Amino acid sequence: QNSIKINPAGTGKAEVKINKHIYGHFAEHLGACIYGGFYVGENSKIPNTNGVRNDVVAALKNLKIPNLRWPGGCFADTYHWKDGIGPKEKRPTIVNTWWGGVTENNSFGTHDFLNMCELIGTEPYLAGNIGSGSVQELADWVQYTNFDGESPMSKQRRENGREKPWKVKYWGVGNEAWGCGGNMTADYYANEYRKYATFITDWNKSGDLFRIASGANSADYNWTETLMKNIPGTLLEGVALHHYSVIDWNKKGPSTDFNEQQYFTTMQKALQMEELVTKHSAIMDKYDPQKKIALVVDEWGGWYEVEPGTNPGFLYQQNTMRDAMIAGVTLNIFNNHSDRVRMANLAQAINVLQAVILTKDEKMILTPTYHVMEMYNVHQDATLLPIEIKTKDYVMGDKKLPAVSASASRDAKGLTHISLTNIDSKNAQEVSIDMPSAKNGGVTGRVLASGKLQDYNSFENPKKIQPATFKDAKLNAGKLTVKVPPFSVVVLEVK
Ligand code: AHR
Repeated sequence: QNSIKINPAGTGKAEVKINKHIYGHFAEHLGACIYGGFYVGENSKIPNTNGVRNDVVAALKNLKIPNLRWPGGCFADTYHWKDGIGPKEKRPTIVNTWWGGVTENNSFGTHDFLNMCELIGTEPYLAGNIGSGSVQELADWVQYTNFDGESPMSKQRRENGREKPWKVKYWGVGNEAWGCGGNMTADYYANEYRKYATFITDWNKSGDLFRIASGANSADYNWTETLMKNIPGTLLEGVALHHYSVIDWNKKGPSTDFNEQQYFTTMQKALQMEELVTKHSAIMDKYDPQKKIALVVDEWGGWYEVEPGTNPGFLYQQNTMRDAMIAGVTLNIFNNHSDRVRMANLAQAINVLQAVILTKDEKMILTPTYHVMEMYNVHQDATLLPIEIKTKDYVMGDKKLPAVSASASRDAKGLTHISLTNIDSKNAQEVSIDMPSAKNGGVTGRVLASGKLQDYNSFENPKKIQPATFKDAKLNAGKLTVKVPPFSVVVLEVK
């Protein structure tokens, strides 16, 4: 029997808010994420505002994306921001060495990105170039985007058409410094971090600049330990972590034509996030018991082989119900750890890896992952209701995984939301939830389900998978009984 107790008495913990920034996204200069995805240029016949697709802006507004990370990824440590400002016809080109070796014309730069964030209503998160850049270059970028007074950088910004600074709060100090960001050791990077972070100046005396250290690769706990030990808390607001749900880096398997064994392994990798955030958090607790520093999972998601016939350097993959399951379980994990996990970024927003949006010329589709993120956005900035969960197993041979994952929160209007993901590929799961103070019948819900795990939304059938009204929840005498279909996501609202 599956059962959930909400807000069990005696947890003794202070109330925690689920930071909306857990629901962040990521836009790298990679394949068709920026060019063709977000940006088509002012002269495109695709409806756009300053070159940014109007359909994409509307979809991301509806998703309530709280932040967007840019320009990478590995690309960030090759990017020189000054090449992407000023008249577009005068901008130099850049060869994208990490992703397909394509030559880009820099027509999408700092103004284009930051103005686009304003259009979407999301906060920018800029990743600085530590690998091949300089302290001066990053310090100048901060001054250019954030300084209101008179200075060489603010003067240039004004000459380029922007009077007021954008006041960017979130700054990444490099990316994957242990790998594409410079192949540094943890000790070396910690010193580099200290130097760079010192020159990320709080020009507006806002007191809320947020500097994020390039974090560990999955279970590299030594990385987090070294950073926490060697970087003073006065220089650090967030420590990153990257973890992808990949079956095997040498044999990732197809994105749609996968078998159940591959599905099971993907779920194993996704659920590993629980252990990762628990262990990285425990290390952070040793050095920062008051939890002032956030764990920022600024890259996560499923990673498969690219679609047949597409450029292997562009990481273009379809998105099935398997991806909906990754999103459902991962977001529940983040919610339940929101005392420490206060920001995260799904990789990536459009046309790359576990995308929420796919585009093909003038067409745009929303993926199952989009729908899960939209259904879950009721948790953004709500109060976490800790849960105790007992769940049956999803069994494959001699291996098993917890079938049901869940999280719960109370919003500003006093409504309780419970998100449930059943990863079991065959069995529906009946879950009973104690809700002593809820009114009989006061429950509504939505469900994302489909006939086959491998189902996806295509350009020919864009609405095959979309949320529907959920009718299998009954609330009686303080007991909520829910029947969650196989491989589905359910979000309930209880009055
Ligand atoms: O998201 C794709 C790539 O994965 C990013 O550029 C890099 O940071 C990670 O290895």
